[in-house]
Amino acid sequence: MLDVSRADLTAGVAGAGTMGRGIAQVLAQGGARTLLYDAQPGAAAKAKDAIAQALGKLVEKGKSTKGEADAIVSRIEVVPALDAFAPCHAVVEAIVEDLSVKQTLFSSLEKVVGEKCILASNTSSLSVTAMAAACKHPGRVAGYHFFNPVPVLKIVEVVDGVRTEPWATDALTALAKRFGHTPVRCKDTPGFIVNHAGRAFVPEALRVLSEGVADFATIDRILTDAAGFRIGAFGLMDLVGLDVNHAVMKSMYQQYFEEPKYKPSFLVEARVAAGLLGRKTGRGWYEYKEGSAVAVSEEKAPSKLPETIWIVPELKDPFSRFKAKLTDPADAEVCFVAPLGNDATTEALRLGLHPARTVAVDPLFGFSKRRTLMVNPLTKRETRDAAHALLASDGTPVSVINDSPGFVAQRIVAHIVNVGCDIMQMRICSPEDLDRAVMLGLGYPKGPLGFGDALGAQRVLTILENMHDFYAEPRYRPSPWLKRRAKLGVSLLTPE
Ligand code: NAI
Repeated sequence: MLDVSRADLTAGVAGAGTMGRGIAQVLAQGGARTLLYDAQPGAAAKAKDAIAQALGKLVEKGKSTKGEADAIVSRIEVVPALDAFAPCHAVVEAIVEDLSVKQTLFSSLEKVVGEKCILASNTSSLSVTAMAAACKHPGRVAGYHFFNPVPVLKIVEVVDGVRTEPWATDALTALAKRFGHTPVRCKDTPGFIVNHAGRAFVPEALRVLSEGVADFATIDRILTDAAGFRIGAFGLMDLVGLDVNHAVMKSMYQQYFEEPKYKPSFLVEARVAAGLLGRKTGRGWYEYKEGSAVAVSEEKAPSKLPETIWIVPELKDPFSRFKAKLTDPADAEVCFVAPLGNDATTEALRLGLHPARTVAVDPLFGFSKRRTLMVNPLTKRETRDAAHALLASDGTPVSVINDSPGFVAQRIVAHIVNVGCDIMQMRICSPEDLDRAVMLGLGYPKGPLGFGDALGAQRVLTILENMHDFYAEPRYRPSPWLKRRAKLGVSLLTPE
C-alpha cells in the first residue's frame, strides 16, 4: 500500500475548476507536492491564483500565517500537460462530468504514471466501475467524491468500484485523514452515500406540498423549528437550484430503476419550465431581494380559548402547561389526538370521536419551538381556531396543516430514516459512516440512523406502517433493516 506519510508524496489534480482547485488546495495543505493540470490553457494558473487569494483571506482573519499560506501555495505546481504527472502517487480527476471523457483521461494517464499510481475520480453521478473498465489496471481506480466548497466541507466519500483493490481505497482513506477530511467508505452505487441519503428530505417535502397539506413556507418552518434542520426543503432547493436538484432526482430515480421512494415531483418540472430556478434567478419557491428571501407571512393565532377539551393520554404531559378544563370526549369543545403515521380522520374514527370536533397535534416533533396542528376535512372552523389559540397560548408558534398521515415532520423524517435503512440493507457503507456522511455532507442535525434511534425505531416503524396502510404505495414500505431492529428493540446502528 502507498505510504501516504512519505515526505515526497506527489499528487496530481486534473481539472482546475470549482472542485479541482479545492482538491488541489487540501492536498497541498496536507503537505503533498500537488501538480495541477487543466485542458483549458491558463485555467490551472488562474486556479492557483484563486487558491493563493483564498489562503490570503485566512491569513487576514488570523486563521493561518503568511508562512503557512506561502508554503501551501509553493507546493502547488501548474503543469502544461498530462505527461508531467509521471511522478504522481495518486491522481484525482475533477474534469467535466462525462463518462467517455473521463475514460479517455484515465487511459491517457495509464500511459504516463507508474503501475501503482492510484487513479481517483471526483464524479458525483457516474459509475466508477465503468470508468475503471476502460483501464488496463482497474484495481487502482476508485472514487474520491468531495463536496463544494472542498476546504470547508471536510468529508470525502471513498468509493470502491466492483474491481477496485482495497489497497487503493485504503490509501485514499489514509490520505484524506492526512489533509484533515473525514473519509467515509462506500460501494460504487448511484449517489454513493450523501446524494443517496439526501433523496428523502426534498422528495417527501414535495409530496406533502403536492397533496395540499401545507404551503411550502409552512413545511419549511416545521422542518427548521420543530425538526431542527438548518434549512427547510424549499429553501434548500432554491439554494441548490431547482434545475440541478430535479436533474439529480430524475437520474437517481432512473438509476435505481424507478424505486418509488426516490420519485421526483411534477411540481418541480413545472417550476423549472417557468424559469423559477431559485436564488440564481431571483425566484424559486421564495422570492429573493438583495440576496435574502422575502419573508412569507404566517397566520396569526386566534385568541378565543376552548372552555373544555379532551386529550389522548400521550398529551397529558405536554398539555399540563395549558389552562383548559378536561372533560369527556362527548362534551368537549375540542378533542385532541396525537397519532403516529395516521391522519386525523383515521385517528378520530379509530377512537370513536366526532371528526367535526377533533384535531391532531404532532406528539413527536416539538412542543418547544413550534407545534403542528392538523385538522380533518370535517373539523369545524371554531374547533380549529380554539385549538390553535390554546396551543399558541404560551406564545409558541403553531402551524396549522390539512390532514396528512404522519403530519409533516413525522413523514419526512421517517422517510429519511427509511431510505438510510435501505442504504444499510444494501450494505453500501457502515452504519457509522452513513450518519457521519449525512451530518457532514448534508448538515442534518442527526444521521438517518441517529434520527431513528432518537425517535425510537419502533415509533418510526409505526409511522411508516400506518402510512403504507393509508396510501397502499410501496414508497412507504418499511426497510427490512428498520423492521428487524425495531422488532428486536436494538439501535439502528446495529450491524449485521
Ligand atoms: P468545472 O466546470 O468548474 O471544472 C471542470 C474543469 O475541467 C474545467 O476547468 C475544464 O477546463 C477542465 N477540463 C475539462 N475536460 C478536461 C480534460 N479532458 N482534461 C483536463 N481538464 C479538463 O466543474 P466542477 O464543478 O469542478 O466539476 C468537476 C467534477 O467534479 C465533475 O465530475 C463534477 O460532477 C464533480 N463534482 C462537482 C461538484 C460541484 O459542486 N461542482 C461536487 C462534487 C463533484
